[in-house]
Amino acid sequence: MIGIYMSGTGNTKHCVGKLLSVIDPKAEMIPIESEESVDKIRLNDAVLLAYPTQFSNVPFMVKDFIRRNPELWKEKKVFCICS
Ligand SMILES: Cc1cc2nc3c(=O)[nH]c(=O)nc-3n(C[C@H](O)[C@H](O)[C@H](O)COP(=O)(O)O)c2cc1C
Repeated sequence: MIGIYMSGTGNTKHCVGKLLSVIDPKAEMIPIESEESVDKIRLNDAVLLAYPTQFSNVPFMVKDFIRRNPELWKEKKVFCICS
């Protein structure tokens, strides 16, 4: 599993760290804006995708990332956390 998160003030990052420490302590967590994020997702069958609610919706940056990489999500288990 890999934890991919967007976090402005740290709440979302904190939640990802807590959850991964319980369900998969060896899992890496990296910010969505990292240059490595696409490659790291490719290498994992399960993805924990985490973001803060913004205007009652998914943040634009996260929606844009999902849409720009449509092939990335096929055949994967994707768990979402919204803080
Ligand atoms: C631009 C912006 C819009 C937000 N919109 C909402 C919202 O619609 N509903 C809500 O409950 N919280 C909203 N929030 C609060 C954040 O979603 C919340 O504090 C979140 O935990 C922040 O996560 P972070 O520390 O990882 O950035 C908003 C915050 C920002 C900065």
